[in-house]
Amino acid sequence: MAETCIVVGAGVAAYGFANAIREAGYQGRVVLFGAESVAPYERPPLSKQFLTGKKDEDALLFQPVSFYEERSIELCLGTPVEEIDLQRRVVRTGDGSEHGFDQLVLATGARPNRLPVPGAELAGIFTLRSLADARALRAALAAAERVFVVGGGFIGCEVAASARLLGKQVALVETLPVLLGRVLGPEIGAAITRVHERQGVALYLGRRVVGIEGQERVERVVLDDGTALPCDLVVVGIGVQPALPAIVGELRIDDGVVVDATCAASVPGVWAAGDVARWWHPRVERFIRVEHYDNALEQGAAVAKAVAGQPEPYVPVPSFWSDQYDLTIQQYGYPVEWDEVVVRGDLDQPAFTAFYLKEGRIYGAVIVRRPREMRPARRLVEALAQVDRSLLADPNVDLRQLMS
Ligand code: APR
Repeated sequence: MAETCIVVGAGVAAYGFANAIREAGYQGRVVLFGAESVAPYERPPLSKQFLTGKKDEDALLFQPVSFYEERSIELCLGTPVEEIDLQRRVVRTGDGSEHGFDQLVLATGARPNRLPVPGAELAGIFTLRSLADARALRAALAAAERVFVVGGGFIGCEVAASARLLGKQVALVETLPVLLGRVLGPEIGAAITRVHERQGVALYLGRRVVGIEGQERVERVVLDDGTALPCDLVVVGIGVQPALPAIVGELRIDDGVVVDATCAASVPGVWAAGDVARWWHPRVERFIRVEHYDNALEQGAAVAKAVAGQPEPYVPVPSFWSDQYDLTIQQYGYPVEWDEVVVRGDLDQPAFTAFYLKEGRIYGAVIVRRPREMRPARRLVEALAQVDRSLLADPNVDLRQLMS
């Protein structure tokens, strides 16, 4: 009898898997279980074009349901997996039924952190991850004047930009001294911070929210210095946690499902892809977990090959972009601590390419308004290149010349 592969999750990584599994030659039964009631869709537009009304729901789906049918992939939507029993090799879904598997793909993604303060349960407080979240936020934004954003990461910055584009008054609180500081560091974070300031976002940096107040709905946010800021709605973007159902049996989990370079988990026939997977990246010789769209798609496809019997090391250059106002911030690189940032171009405008170096090697790059440098910058990162810093910093030196 043909074997069964169950995919837990029906998000971006699951789509990457579904799109590649038959091409990889797998002939077993494939079942995708998704908690949400929609087929896999693109998440990046949720905080941008979907929120500003430039894109509608239909445009978000990767593929219509017929795509899965044509590939004999069973798409079970609105069906959360609640428990995985690795000893009996079955999953239990929300309706109580059990489904056996030979191979299992964990593509469960991540869930947004909640704000741990009094008042966080009031109406009018939103997180943004799913289409349902985005629908609710979009409707609430239409009726709001004053929007308060908690967290200056990518979600917070994109929501702030979308809300400004919609003509709302926007305030944002971030515990670090600059926006995007966690991912981009102080110098590049400061450049993006100035963009939001100029666009009229009221910034409260180095501050924390200690409470949210209101009768039934949110009416004001209170900061740690006692400032009370009136608002109509609050969006919380303070990071995510890997999401997993209950697991019976031993599985190595440590900030996500720990997998080897081929995305194989500690139990044979179990794999992980996307935000939930922390894999051994042979190029940088460490375990990394990447919460970005491109990685989810590509790692899903890599796991499809592995499930079909051709496991290979998964060694991508992680890549990410963010659109805020008229800016696209393109990032390449590994989530590795750096000890030096080399910038070419103008941080103030901003129009620059920044390189993140560790012990003289390029581990990352961020490109803003220098699109021709994207491809060579990516290649320098891929090579972990060691390059003369003065040439790297000189905007008139063609990056392609620096590739040895
Ligand atoms: N008050 C204010 N700011 C906070 C608080 C708090 N209580 N807690 C955390 N922060 C800040 C952090 O300092 C950080 O700058 O919130 C920011 C969260 O940024 P990220 O961790 O990057 O998370 P987020 O923006 O929520 O994005 C989650 O979704 O689209 C993906 O790629 C994106 O991986 C990211 C994920």
